[in-house]
Amino acid sequence: MTAWLLGIESSCDETSAAIVGDGHLVRSNVISSQADLHAKYGGVVPELAARAHIEQIREIVDLALDRAGLAFNDLAAIAVTDGPGLAGSLLIGVTAAKTLAALYGLPLVPVDHIQAHATSAALACDGPAPWPAIALVASGGHTSLYLVRDFLTIELLGQTTDDAAGEAFDKVAAILELGYPGGPAIDSAAASGDPRAIAFPRTWIDEPHLDFSFSGLKTAVLYHVYGKGRKYGDVSHLTMDQIGSIAASFQQAVVDVLVAKTIRAARDTGGKAVVVGGGVAANRLLRSELAAACRNHGLQLVLTPPEYCGDNAAMIAALGWHLWQAGATTDHWLEPRSGLLRPASR
Ligand code: KG4
Ligand code: ZN
Repeated sequence: MTAWLLGIESSCDETSAAIVGDGHLVRSNVISSQADLHAKYGGVVPELAARAHIEQIREIVDLALDRAGLAFNDLAAIAVTDGPGLAGSLLIGVTAAKTLAALYGLPLVPVDHIQAHATSAALACDGPAPWPAIALVASGGHTSLYLVRDFLTIELLGQTTDDAAGEAFDKVAAILELGYPGGPAIDSAAASGDPRAIAFPRTWIDEPHLDFSFSGLKTAVLYHVYGKGRKYGDVSHLTMDQIGSIAASFQQAVVDVLVAKTIRAARDTGGKAVVVGGGVAANRLLRSELAAACRNHGLQLVLTPPEYCGDNAAMIAALGWHLWQAGATTDHWLEPRSGLLRPASR
């Protein structure tokens, strides 16, 4: 009999609930994005995010069950993101999950958000997951490389020392006045630009370590756009073609570094497979260049399907099932872990 889990995700600015069976059968995955709410501030405002989660959470959970055609009595457990993330946002999902678990007498499974991104590519597999694999997790808050030995054992190999890749996309989109969230906006603007137009820095691309740094790249774009004496927030001196080429050159620089370090991680560890997850994994150039590089190096590549790249509860319920099977449940004392905790430390 299929074990159905309800997954709940509220770590940042998406309220999401999903029903997933046996860790891979996605019956529903409802995502309510707050992007419009935060757009005018150019980034997520934590207090507004928490309030929006409070308003949404009940409806989203009900919708996930409705769409799956299931009731609470059909569930085996409830999985919830307990960190890392914004404290106020996490608190809403964790409180909802604890309450529902107590009310319906269901086991409660805390799930690490980054571990879920690192293993989300398994949702693309019909057969067994490709572990062991190198996982690139590139999102708005994280850019890290992991060695995923299995769903429950993942080791950090390297990470950004300043901005995350998605954060760089968001900030460069703001510099170019392309709107928020910046990743999809840069992805589209870059389509008509020349990626070789400007030689932006590829920080540490040839260094032997597996850490990243994107803040210098962001500053290079800022100087390129405004130079000396121009006013921030006014890009009227640029043509659409120039904006497209800046976006394309920036995107190429990020992708070159992400791909080079991912391949290096596979080589260093003798890995045979690569997976990629997180919001930036939806980037079209990253997907195609990773595919080409993995082909050249004889590596298996499993890309997280685009619908599971950004924050979503399906990946939480999927990993939650593996944790539940391993007995990694908790009690009603569960509290959110804000801050940048690493999954390997669990
Ligand atoms: O995983 P996610 O939804 O949230 C976090 O855990 O941070 O990632 C959001 C990030 C944002 O920075 C967004 O701009 C970026 O992912 N993103 C993209 C694309 N779609 C979303 N970055 C590049 N290209 C995209 N197509
Ligand atoms: Zn995320």
